[in-house]
Amino acid sequence: MRYSSFLPALAVFGLAACSAAFAQAPGYSNLGRTPSKEEIQAWNQSIGPQGKELPPGSGTAKQGEEIFASKCAACHGANGEGSQLAPRLVGGRGPLNTPTPSRTLANYWPFATTIWDYINRAMPPKQEGSLSGSDIYALTAFILYRNDIIPEGQVLDAASLPKVKMPNRDGFIPDRLEDIHSLRARGCNAGHCP
Ligand code: HEC
Repeated sequence: MRYSSFLPALAVFGLAACSAAFAQAPGYSNLGRTPSKEEIQAWNQSIGPQGKELPPGSGTAKQGEEIFASKCAACHGANGEGSQLAPRLVGGRGPLNTPTPSRTLANYWPFATTIWDYINRAMPPKQEGSLSGSDIYALTAFILYRNDIIPEGQVLDAASLPKVKMPNRDGFIPDRLEDIHSLRARGCNAGHCP
């Protein structure tokens, strides 16, 4: 009984508050400002599969090994084998078409450029953004080398990294159905395509 008289009172109050807000809706014309080119650049840091946004710099697995030992191994293990603190970065390959595919970097990441992007944005935790572009190329090379994806001496940079083919690159369906070239694989039927 007490609730039934309480609730309608709230609803009436809510309505009144709403209509008051509408009556005084400001124009917002003098709020905020257009972000500067530098500000947009600082936020706009995603690296796509083709790696067009990758910055200058370069690195090899050997250089990456040293940086990994000092900045990453404490959590990811000396050889990238993982620990209770962080997932493994090396190994874990297997088929994708099982109910429990291994979602490791080497098995589950279709594009090598994502490794650069991820480290750049998120690692090491609480010190994101502290690594230089070349440090990140070197760390990416180290991780790819230890996964037997590139040779030890390969130099990674904005031109070579996008060309690295991840082992399961073809195990994924493109997110745009139009990009699936085989009409059969795309699920077309009698001239009708999804
Ligand atoms: C303080 C511990 C810590 C340190 C140091 C650290 N990481 Fe991580 N890292 C993590 C954790 C935790 C995750 C998982 C985050 C998640 O899934 O949300 C992770 C995830 C990753 C991943 C994605 C792995 C995957 O399969 O999803 C990469 C790549 C990576 N770290 C690289 C690095 C590199 C390179 C360094 C050194 C520059 C580094 N990390 C340092 C804790 C750490």
